[in-house]
Order: sequence, then structure tokens, then C-alpha cells
Amino acid sequence: MKKSIFGRLLPVVVLVGGASMASTAWAQAGAEMLANTCAGCHGPDGSSNGPATPTIASLSTDYFVMSMKDYKSGKRPSTVMARIAKGYSDDDIAAMAKYFQTKPFQRPGQKVDADKAKAGKALAKKYCESCHEDEGRVGEGVGVLAGQMLPYLQYSMVDFLSLKRETEKRQKAKFDALVKDLGEEAFQPILHYYAGVK
Ligand code: HEC
Ligand code: HEC
Repeated sequence: MKKSIFGRLLPVVVLVGGASMASTAWAQAGAEMLANTCAGCHGPDGSSNGPATPTIASLSTDYFVMSMKDYKSGKRPSTVMARIAKGYSDDDIAAMAKYFQTKPFQRPGQKVDADKAKAGKALAKKYCESCHEDEGRVGEGVGVLAGQMLPYLQYSMVDFLSLKRETEKRQKAKFDALVKDLGEEAFQPILHYYAGVK
């Protein structure tokens, strides 16, 4: 009997599949080893428990890679990450980005000012939600704000407002509108709101 096309293709498929599975497992082990060096500050599996250190679990790979490259080149200001990022190749960074994306962003809850958070919610809806969707949980290209460490968010905002950290043009327009309407202080309630999202 003539072999069906599937019968002839099957061994090839199995071979290719097997090889790529092995290399995936190998890449996974490599990424895990690389990621171990980050755990001291970013917590096991990327969920931070130190106030000035952000959680990096679940970040989109594009945002993760952009952040590491910007730290490396000095485009994005940092206290320690420029030095750390310089130790990794583009391939290492891509592998770590994939690894951390699969980890859940843990939100054990942190202390925020409840009144501020309440006021911030409406402001966030008006000025931020268009890019930081689903209460800041969606981080495609923008990082995750929901449940992120409050002091870290505050440092980030200072960097943006002092133009040390580059903003997208559209993002800058929103920041400028908020500052014009309500003043820089209006960022505080918004950040308390995002930090408190569970
Ligand atoms: C010594 C502590 C420390 C270590 C080790 C460390 N980080 Fe960081 N990381 C920080 C701090 C602090 C920040 C905030 C920026 C800054 O001040 O440097 C940060 C920021 C980041 C961000 C930006 C997150 C965001 O939401 O924008 C990424 C991505 C990141 N780190 C990845 C890594 C990776 C990957 C490793 C391991 C290779 C690592 N970090 C190791 C302390 C650390
Ligand atoms: C038009 C889109 C847009 C709007 C509106 C916007 N952002 Fe962003 N936001 C971005 C982008 C893009 C980034 C990533 C910037 C980068 O690192 O290059 C970002 C990053 C951030 C970060 C840093 C996250 C991190 O992990 O370091 C904070 C904090 C932030 N935005 C706060 C806000 C607040 C508060 C508002 C509302 C007042 C707002 N954003 C409105 C696009 C936007």
C-alpha cells in the first residue's frame, strides 16, 4: 500500500519536534540560571519585595528588552541597572525577557493612602488609562503599573517629569495636560491608586 503523505511526513515532524523541544528545555535552563542573578533584588520569580526595586515578572518581552537596552545605553536613568545590564548580551536579555514574562506579577498588597488612591482612580481614567489599560495591569510596551512598588513609581515619575527619562510624544502630551490642569502634585494620588491595585 502506498504510504499516505502523513505517514511519510510523520518521522520528519517527530524529529524536528524532538530537537526543538530539547533546545527549548536547554534555553529554559539557561534563562533560569541567568535570572537567578536578578532574584537578590527583584525577588524570586521577579516579584519584588523591596520598595525601590520594581517587580519584573510578567512584563511584556518588548518592554523588558527595551528597558534593558535603554539602561545599557544610558538612555534610561538608573541607580544600578546600567551596570548590571552591561553584563548581558542581546540573546541573554531576550532569554530572560521570555523567562520573566511567564511568571505571575504578585500583588500581596502594599500600604497606600486610601483617600489619595480614591481620588487617583478618576484622574488615572482620564489621563493614563488609554495606554495603561485594565487599571495598569496590561504592560504591552508601557510596563505594569498595577501593584507596582509605590516608591519605584514615584522615582519613575520624577525621572519623566525632569525629562531624564524619555517619554513618548503622546505620553508627554498627557503629562503636560495633567500638570497644566492640576499641577505635578496630581501624580501622587494616581500613583497611590495604581500601587494599590490588586
Ligand atoms: C542590585 C539590585 C538589582 C539587581 C541584582 C538587578 N536589578 Fe533590575 N532593577 C533594580 C533597580 C533598583 C531598578 C530600578 C532602576 C534603577 O534604579 O537601577 C531595576 C529595574 C529593572 C527593570 C525595569 C523594570 C520596569 O518596570 O521598568 C528591569 C527590566 C530589570 N531591572 C531587570 C533586571 C534583570 C534582568 C536583572 C538580572 C540580570 C536585574 N534587573 C538585576 C535593581 C536590581
Ligand atoms: C500615550 C500613552 C501613555 C499615556 C497616556 C500614559 N503613559 Fe505612562 N507610559 C507610556 C509608555 C510608552 C511608557 C514606557 C516608557 C519607556 O520606558 O520608554 C510608560 C511608562 C510609565 C511609567 C514607568 C513604568 C515603569 O515600570 O517604570 C509610569 C510610572 C507611567 N508611565 C505613569 C503614567 C501615568 C501616571 C500616566 C497618566 C498621568 C501615564 N503614564 C500616561 C505611555 C503612556
